[in-house]
Amino acid sequence: MMTLSRRTLFKTVPAGAICAYAAPLSWATDASDRVELAAEPQTVRWFGDTTTEIWGYNSTAIELQQYVPVTIAFTNRLAEPTTVHWHGMRVENAMDGVSGLTQAPVQPGDTFDYRFTPKDAGTFWAHAHHQTYRQLALGLYTPIIVAEAQPYPVDRDLLFVADDWLINPEDQLDTESLEETHAWAHAGRMGNVLTINRLRLPELEVQAGDRVRLRVINTANSRIMRFGFPDVSTFIIAKDGQPLSLPRAHSGILTIAPAERYDLVIDIPKDWAGLYPIYERSGKQPFLAATWQVSATERSRALKDVDALPANPLPNSEFKTTQKLTLAMQGGAMGNLKAALYQGKKLSVKELIANKQVWTLNGVANMPEAALLTAKVGEGIEIALHNTTAWPHAMHLHGQHFQAYNDVTEQDLWQDTLLVQAGDTQTIRFLAAEPGKWLLHCHMIEHQVSGMVSYIEVLGAAEEGEPGLG
Ligand code: C2O
Ligand code: CU
Repeated sequence: MMTLSRRTLFKTVPAGAICAYAAPLSWATDASDRVELAAEPQTVRWFGDTTTEIWGYNSTAIELQQYVPVTIAFTNRLAEPTTVHWHGMRVENAMDGVSGLTQAPVQPGDTFDYRFTPKDAGTFWAHAHHQTYRQLALGLYTPIIVAEAQPYPVDRDLLFVADDWLINPEDQLDTESLEETHAWAHAGRMGNVLTINRLRLPELEVQAGDRVRLRVINTANSRIMRFGFPDVSTFIIAKDGQPLSLPRAHSGILTIAPAERYDLVIDIPKDWAGLYPIYERSGKQPFLAATWQVSATERSRALKDVDALPANPLPNSEFKTTQKLTLAMQGGAMGNLKAALYQGKKLSVKELIANKQVWTLNGVANMPEAALLTAKVGEGIEIALHNTTAWPHAMHLHGQHFQAYNDVTEQDLWQDTLLVQAGDTQTIRFLAAEPGKWLLHCHMIEHQVSGMVSYIEVLGAAEEGEPGLG
């Protein structure tokens, strides 16, 4: 494993702009057919006058328009290779950004054009998919908003991008702990500083009586976050970029696993004025995450019912299932893994640990030699995710959304990431829609690097007019 010194880590290649990340609380970029995106070292001021070095993209949010083709011209200004993955966006396999599977990583100073047409309107995010456990922890991600053709009726459309960072006593990222396998075998590497939109304790400016669309994204490597907004009239209108057919009233804590997104509609009470805290409650002590800064108003306006978002062009859920698979998720601390296949060889637990592998999917640690499952375009697949470990896992499928029952919305939803609790089994079903090799992995990214990753392969439908036999 290559270890990089702090100097190499935060060096720019070639010399590019190092800019302080000042994320506005609402996105304000123009949708265009070409976006220049760069990965680069950046600095933030989270602790008084101290400058903290992180990584990031030169973008506070990428705004795209549904059905409008886009070229994202990507430049790597880091001193190491990287790729960009469009989490939750149904793009062609060659654009999926998985280093070593769908493309070779983009070398320092090099460029790569990502081209696709957003099929779905909604809330997505881009993140590095090369040594993801390091590059994501260092900050290589940005939210993506794919705008609906008709603006959804709210007074404000705000991002709420939550991340936890592990900061050392010098107020710098704790990069030493990135390789520590103890956290990998447990719940993952947890941070000690929470940011919303890359700011500490931002104030979300609203007016009393506003109807707000809040796009909540959990970009943490491993922390399952629990937000209280606080208890105001809240509806969930979308999960993982996909609209609910019926908005669902939600009260209490919103639990959101790594990589998941919830689009909420929140009505700020008419009689509010001043500051109202938003807490994150996954730890023993609540973290103050952000505050609503509410300006008082005299206006009295009756709010209409919360509308559903227009449906995205997803497959008809009536498809027939032609393949079923059970996926045994095993390993980790307090698991009883004895041996597993790793890179084609059967290894004992001791040997696996020596290779920093602690988790398995169907008896294989890390990428298998052959796909978990091979399907043709148009086949219906069902996978029972059987979590026999002592830990929750946020399972993510690339390339196609799956249907599964969601505990928070209590509906069968199309989602791309699903939290499977310890000891639980959840079944996902999806239509194999795009040819290519698609990852299926745990989005507690330390679990992915230490074994919990596999892939399915979708083969293109036979072309019409192909010569038949005989
Ligand atoms: Cu968010 Cu493999 O991805
Ligand atoms: Cu996991």
